[in-house]
Amino acid sequence: PTVRLEDYRPSDHLIDRVELDVRLDPHDTRVTATLALRPNPAGRAGAPLVLDGDDLTLLALELDGQAPAPDAVRADASGLTLHRPPQRPFTLRIETRLDPTANTRLMGLYRSNGVYCTQCEADGFRRITYFLDRPDVLSVYTTRIEAEREAAPVLLGNGNPVEAGTVPGTDRHYAVWHDPLPKPAYLFALVGGRLDRVAKPFTTMEGRAVEIAVYVEPGKADRAAYALDAVERSMAWDETAFGRAYDLDLFNVVAVSDFNMGAMENKGLNIFNDKYVLASPETATDGDYAAIEAIIAHEYFHNWSGNRVTCRDWFQLCLKEGLTVFRDQEFSSDMRSRAVHRIAEVRNLRARQFPEDAGPLAHPVRPKQYAEINNFYTATVYEKGAEIVRMLRTLIGETAFRAGMDRYFADNDGTAATVEDFLKAFEAVTGRDLSRFAEWYERPGTPRVAVSGSYDPAARTYRLAFRQTRPGAGADAPPLVIPIGLGLVGPDGPLDGPLAPPFAERVEDGVFVLETAEDAVTFENVAAEPVPSLFRAFSAPVRVESPLDDAARLTLLRHDPDSFNRWEAAQRIALGLMTAQVRDETAGDAGADDFVVALGAFLDAEALRDPAFAAQVLALPSEGDLADEIGTEIDPDAIFAARRDLRRRLGTGLRERLLSLREALAEPEGTPFSPDAAAAGRRALRNAALDLIAAADPEAGTALAQAQIAQATNMTDRLAGLAALALVPGEAREAALSAFAERYANEPLVLDKWFAIQAMIPEDGTVERIRRLQGHPAFANTNPNRVRSLVGSFSLANPTQFNRADGAGYALVAETVLALDGTNPQVAARLMTAFGPWRRLEPVRRAAAESALRRIAATPGLSRDVTDIGTRSLAG
Ligand code: ARG
Ligand code: ZN
Repeated sequence: PTVRLEDYRPSDHLIDRVELDVRLDPHDTRVTATLALRPNPAGRAGAPLVLDGDDLTLLALELDGQAPAPDAVRADASGLTLHRPPQRPFTLRIETRLDPTANTRLMGLYRSNGVYCTQCEADGFRRITYFLDRPDVLSVYTTRIEAEREAAPVLLGNGNPVEAGTVPGTDRHYAVWHDPLPKPAYLFALVGGRLDRVAKPFTTMEGRAVEIAVYVEPGKADRAAYALDAVERSMAWDETAFGRAYDLDLFNVVAVSDFNMGAMENKGLNIFNDKYVLASPETATDGDYAAIEAIIAHEYFHNWSGNRVTCRDWFQLCLKEGLTVFRDQEFSSDMRSRAVHRIAEVRNLRARQFPEDAGPLAHPVRPKQYAEINNFYTATVYEKGAEIVRMLRTLIGETAFRAGMDRYFADNDGTAATVEDFLKAFEAVTGRDLSRFAEWYERPGTPRVAVSGSYDPAARTYRLAFRQTRPGAGADAPPLVIPIGLGLVGPDGPLDGPLAPPFAERVEDGVFVLETAEDAVTFENVAAEPVPSLFRAFSAPVRVESPLDDAARLTLLRHDPDSFNRWEAAQRIALGLMTAQVRDETAGDAGADDFVVALGAFLDAEALRDPAFAAQVLALPSEGDLADEIGTEIDPDAIFAARRDLRRRLGTGLRERLLSLREALAEPEGTPFSPDAAAAGRRALRNAALDLIAAADPEAGTALAQAQIAQATNMTDRLAGLAALALVPGEAREAALSAFAERYANEPLVLDKWFAIQAMIPEDGTVERIRRLQGHPAFANTNPNRVRSLVGSFSLANPTQFNRADGAGYALVAETVLALDGTNPQVAARLMTAFGPWRRLEPVRRAAAESALRRIAATPGLSRDVTDIGTRSLAG
């Protein structure tokens, strides 16, 4: 059944108060919900009451204390209807029975490693009790949780604890939690289990004393310190950056080992995939630390952008997700290097969102319809959604942006809002009309902007012309409002110096706004032919058809004050060299030599000054980036070869520099580990150097990698060593893999890295290796992290093997999708999205991928999740 935005209407009923009594039991959990209902004045008078349910067993039902007549009600596993509900406030008491142990979908109430926990977004609450499970029904919740004390000494709910005690004459105890702020059902949560706790106090800017706590599996408390610290920094940052203070006495984070997504912002009780909480130098990489910091912040920031102001309906998902991603990106930029973080954001956008937008699963940032909402927690909604917020800030400026955010929170606090409400707040504070800007939310596809430049030496003017197009948008599509960060760079440095700088009337604070299909801007006072620095800091999520040649790009790499565009210049040169090889154009050779020389000079000048940035410049565009650039008739083997060859060239040409950089960046023995950005940046550059050295000289690389593993004092270096070894077939690799597995035999999250490294080996034997690993005692199809590490990494990060011409890679993923669909359709559907780009492949692979997709789609009894991905992937 397709749900459409245009069909939205308010609920016919509201639920003001919810009292839940949850008696936890491994197989026979009893939930009694007492709901204070009333007709919604904005709804249809006299309408039946239709409560959602999913897989529920009804045990008892009372309306205002009485059993309703049998013909007044219809109830089954998927819903409960009262045909003629009272036309006044009334109470329903509903008792249901659940089996949390059998809940393998990990939606609703389930058990993870013995811990009772919940996941209700988007529509999991209806798996706990019958309810108006939609985000515009806001209620005040009181939850009593009861469990065997021995099995679940810790009982957590939303809001503040109000009461606890034992159940006389039993081995059970209970806790009562009350959440004073009305919330939609998707933000409900409870936890019960044996958990260790770390905590620290925080005082908000409003003077509220808050206890922050992180709960983890017994024995892992020492790995929770970083997450705890990240919560504290997030709370402080949201106060200064956005004026947002926390609003309850407790803020709890719980880490569980079976979780479909990254984490969940339940009010006062965030529940996390433990991968994004647990960290120690021995077990977590710098990337893990950065992800923990970002996701902790993300979920915490939802307290305002998502919880205090929630979404009217699921079409508005970007309202909370795009905005909250933007907020967590800003937080990470403030905690780390802004330029390096921006590069990471754009790499991620290009790796995940651009291909999605170019394939059959493309959808607007605000979709107009869906069959399964859980399939819309996408890079487009999250990451492109964040880019829209960022563009808005660029357009109106930082001060107006902050005022607009304040206005948005003030006007919509306690309500379920829409994208229109969001934009309205910014219109109110700026007096601008943002209706044309709103087009960004409405249509899929990555826009293109073609740029050309011309210099007039006599007039000392430089003219830049822009033309925007949108793939598949149709002639009626209005042009987008595109902020373009701009500057001019001369042969010896920026031309925007203090004395008689170039200027252009319509460039304000370095931003030109393209609002029509075509437009141009003319800079005056330009002393020499400049190189334009376009879309500085990636000011809009578009593809740029740039007028720059490699010489111009090298000028930018050397002199652009915008770090992002320095990096972008190097990436574009590398991309050009590699695509030329893929397309069999040999012209690239001299260019490659120039590139090596330029990178050498760059490293000499700057590697030690900003190692994190240098590491980004050295890391070539991925195979996926190349595929995205090439766009059609993709041959992953040719792409792999081109990238391997350029890495070899860089490794050969820069070898001495890279070796001495590795020396210069080595931590003196005894240096205590720090996960901070500076130390992580040094490790990143050392390991980027290792990768290139090994690409050019596998023997030397192997020796360096083995030594690095032997000396490693942290997981980043150990894993980088292993990753380098993994690319060289032979004894050394297998020995290192075995040693790693032995060392971390009892560390599931570390073994995930070991699964992933092997899944990404770009060799023929990998499919068979994965099949073997699926039988490894540490592997379990029921755990989403395991599946994503072994099969997800394969499908997303091993293009040559996933896209094997004989179809063996597709078959492996298709089998896994089908095997999972019966137990966890959400994870199965997510895995299946790897087939998205199938139409862009060369014919042999295209046919093989299509037949794997059709095989999945033709299987009887598929979930709605997988059916939806299959239908959309094959449509058109
Ligand atoms: N709101 C969560 C977040 O952005 C994601 C939860 C999505 N879960 C799901 N089953 N669709 O952090
Ligand atoms: Zn989120």
